[in-house]
Parts: sequence; C-alpha cells; structure tokens
Amino acid sequence: MNKVIVSLLLTLGITGMAHAAGDAKAGQAKAAVCGACHGPDGNSAAPNFPKLAGQGERYLLKQMKDIKAGNRTVLEMTGLLNNVSDQDMADIAAYFSSQKGSVGAADPKVVARGEALFRGGKLEQGMPACTGCHAPDGSGNAAAGFPHLGGQHSQYVAKQLTDFREGNRTNDGDSMIMRGIAAKLSNKDIEAVSSYIQGLH
Ligand code: HEC
Ligand code: HEC
Repeated sequence: MNKVIVSLLLTLGITGMAHAAGDAKAGQAKAAVCGACHGPDGNSAAPNFPKLAGQGERYLLKQMKDIKAGNRTVLEMTGLLNNVSDQDMADIAAYFSSQKGSVGAADPKVVARGEALFRGGKLEQGMPACTGCHAPDGSGNAAAGFPHLGGQHSQYVAKQLTDFREGNRTNDGDSMIMRGIAAKLSNKDIEAVSSYIQGLH
C-alpha cells in the first residue's frame, strides 16, 4: 500500500479514537446532576435507580444517546440530556465506568433457580445462558457493549426484563436479543434471576 495512504489511515484512526474517548476527570463534574439519583460515584441507594458505577463505557454512552433521542423512555430523566453534548456524555460515561460498583445480596430462597437460569439458560425453550454475553461473573463485555450486570439492584433488573418482555423497552437492536430472551422468562424466573444478579460478583 502507498505510504501516504497508510499514514492518512493512521491519522484518521487516531483522530477517530480521540473523538470517541471520554475524559473521566472532566466527566466527574458534569455528572454532578446525575448523582442525585444514581449516587455521586454511580452507586445509587434507591433500588429503582440503576447503579452506573463500573458499567461499560460503550453501553453507558449508548443508553444516554437512546434516552436523549427517545428510543428508551426514562420518565425521571425527561429533558435532562437535552443540553448535554456528545462529548459531555462520553466524559460522563468514562467517569461512571471508572468507579467501582458495589454488590448486594441474593435472596437465599430463590438463588438456586436464579443461578440455574443465569448459567444454564432454558435449553428446552432454546433460551441461551446469560453468561454467554454477560460473562460468568456478570461483568459483561465492555468492548461489545454487553452490559455489566453483577451487583445491580434486583428491582431495577426485574423491571428491565419485564419491560423487554412486554415491549416497553425496545432499544436492544434489530436482532431483539433481550426481547427474545425475556419472552421465555416467567415472573418467577425474573424474580429469581434478578435476585441472583444482585449478589453476583
Ligand atoms: C431524577 C432521577 C434521575 C436523574 C437525575 C438521572 N437519572 Fe438516569 N435513570 C433514572 C432512572 C429511574 C433510570 C432507569 C429507568 C428504567 O427503569 O428503565 C435511569 C437510567 C439511566 C441509564 C441507563 C442505565 C442502564 O443500566 O441501562 C443511564 C446510562 C443514566 N440513567 C444516566 C444518567 C445520567 C448521565 C444522568 C445525569 C445527566 C442521569 N442519568 C440522571 C433516574 C435518573
Ligand atoms: C446474546 C447476548 C445476550 C444474552 C444471551 C443475554 N443478554 Fe442481556 N443484554 C444483551 C445486550 C446486548 C444488552 C443491551 C441492550 C441495549 O443496548 O439496550 C442486554 C441488556 C440486558 C439487561 C439490561 C441491563 C441494564 O443495565 O439496563 C439485563 C437486565 C439483561 N440483559 C439480563 C439478561 C439475562 C438475565 C440474561 C439471561 C436470562 C441475558 N441478559 C442474556 C445481550 C445478551
């Protein structure tokens, strides 16, 4: 390949990365307003407000863009991101991603059922195990944008799975990965797997 083209590609690649990358330090100040609900370090106290600490940067950024564009409805955040730029969102994502997520506890009464679902899926219904995308320890796959789940509030997780199942959350892409999976989960399954996730680390 021609040397000029090679160096041009390199330059483009590097500039592209510089634009996409968030600055965690700058993000901390910009995230102050978010801390009221999500916790100053992204570990929220209320079980209906998701923890953002330790969540993958790519996933966080996608959710912010989806919420801002109205592709995911979060009534509590209505209008909140209107004046937040792409760079601000990247910085905020970098900040929360760099924080350490806290872990809760699973309900011993349902943990066996939750673990079986998380690790084994429901083979008879063709439902894959959660571990395939969200990893055995629930840490997800940051590069692929598969969210970190371990330690997340069970109430929040259960609401997401129900929302996917009922078609109230539809931002999982054209392949409808999570809507397809949640369609195979009963209310009892959701309760169990969400509780298991809350204690997972
Ligand atoms: C008044 C409370 C409130 C404030 C303030 C708030 N959020 Fe949220 N946020 C929520 C709730 C509630 C949800 C989850 C809604 C649901 O159940 O789907 C959420 C969801 C999210 C999610 C998706 C998390 C996930 O795991 O998918 C992200 C990302 C997010 N908020 C970022 C922010 C950022 C960035 C700010 C500050 C600019 C902010 N939020 C401010 C209440 C709030
Ligand atoms: C084939 C890959 C795949 C499998 C298997 C999978 N997920 Fe997901 N999951 C995803 C992706 C991708 C998203 C993010 C969708 C988006 O961008 O909004 C997601 C999102 C979620 C969310 C929302 C997280 C948040 O913070 O709001 C929950 C909860 C979840 N998955 C639970 C599960 C559970 C429980 C299982 C097993 C029963 C499972 N997933 C299996 C790929 C997968």
